[in-house]
Amino acid sequence: MNAVATSPLHLARTAAVFTCILAALAGLMFGLDIGVIAGATPFIQKEFQISDQVIEWIVSSMMLGAAVGALGASWMSSLLGRKRSLILGAVLFVAGSLLCGGAASAQVLVLARFVLGLAIGIATFTAPLYLAEVAPEKIRGAMISLYQLMITIGILVAFLSDTAFSYSGNWRWMLGVIAIPGALFLLGLFLLPDSPRWLMMRGRTQDAREVLRRLRGEDALVEREMADIAEQLGTPQRGWHLFLENRNFRRSVGLGVLLQLMQQFTGMNVVMYYAPRIFENIGYDQQAQLWFTAMVGLTNVLATFIAIGLVDKLGRKPILYAGFAVMSLGLGVVGTMMHVGMTTHAEQLFTVVMLLVFIVGFAMSAGPLIWTLCSEVQPLKGRDFGIGCSTFTNWIANMVVGATFLSLLHGIGNAATFWLYAGLNLVFIVLTIWLVPETKGVTLEQIERNLMAGLPLRRIGTSAADTRRIS
Ligand code: BGC
Repeated sequence: MNAVATSPLHLARTAAVFTCILAALAGLMFGLDIGVIAGATPFIQKEFQISDQVIEWIVSSMMLGAAVGALGASWMSSLLGRKRSLILGAVLFVAGSLLCGGAASAQVLVLARFVLGLAIGIATFTAPLYLAEVAPEKIRGAMISLYQLMITIGILVAFLSDTAFSYSGNWRWMLGVIAIPGALFLLGLFLLPDSPRWLMMRGRTQDAREVLRRLRGEDALVEREMADIAEQLGTPQRGWHLFLENRNFRRSVGLGVLLQLMQQFTGMNVVMYYAPRIFENIGYDQQAQLWFTAMVGLTNVLATFIAIGLVDKLGRKPILYAGFAVMSLGLGVVGTMMHVGMTTHAEQLFTVVMLLVFIVGFAMSAGPLIWTLCSEVQPLKGRDFGIGCSTFTNWIANMVVGATFLSLLHGIGNAATFWLYAGLNLVFIVLTIWLVPETKGVTLEQIERNLMAGLPLRRIGTSAADTRRIS
């Protein structure tokens, strides 16, 4: 047998990657939850005979739950630990899915979606935190991207499963069946070790050492990482106080909030939640609507690889400019086609392609990059608080987008709704030029130093050498 393959270092690397993949499956749950509702709403509306307003509530109660869950998770993950928080999230996920599948009325469905939201809020806060704490430094970036990829795969799987169940029109199975991956995820979570950083926070140094030995395999590495964690823990998290007393920290929290507002007001989730309705407006029947929706999901997965491949080469800002421009173009053309009306097959297909162009624009840029930037711009002392605020904003803005789309269609019409989002994407190019820093290849410590020295936000990613030159 190959000696390298069985060396302690190799075994530890395998254990660490396995642990990360398992934790990243939380992203899959996130995606399943986002994607599952699009295909189900037409059938729910038919069965319960409810208005578009009630449908908007069913869609967006999940986001409200997620916002509450994300807030609670920052407190819970330090009290109960990351692993137990994830377990609680998975239990709520299974319960929420079953409750959705069995809902006897629209009101119960709103409540069940709120419970699902709590689960996802907990997962979206805890899983990236856990991943960052257990992944070996060299593959940390790749492991966080893996989480993003899992989200898009979850959305695709939900779209495909919706399409399969659409032939029988059984929305209860669409919503209930995701309890199965949820239950498997729950079982898998019991195999995870506790996060070493959390164990040390609780004073359980020996337990932390044992976990790290399993994941790193070499005593020198273990001791170095433990020393690093101990040093970091010497900087207490004092988010709220820092927010009140430090203007520079208020600026980075504001930037995180703005970034997530930008991500959500690109309009991406309009397509995630209402794709079949959009394809209906283009003129397709129910089966075609669901197949095109599945195509949206596939495009979303594939285009995420563009971001993963380019982010450390081209940097964050050029990719964001390109992404917002592509999104604005895609939505602008979709709006125009809706305005002039589509009479031929070719015109309909062209409109679908432009909607897919919009999806590519999001998945190659704002989708993954906003999450990356949000975790990079906060100073260590206020990182949990800062990321908590931006994640909360993501879900509230997500809810506003989900809760207003159908009303916008009724109020200002199809074309103007898409033009509105196209216009917002143009505004985001200006905001990116003006306020967003380039953080490629700069250490988090340097970003923090620049922020605290009062540099304009767009310059906090300047490297140490450049900072000296400027001053
Ligand atoms: C966003 C979600 C969105 C998903 C689509 C994520 O980065 O936060 O709101 O539904 O991407 O892939």
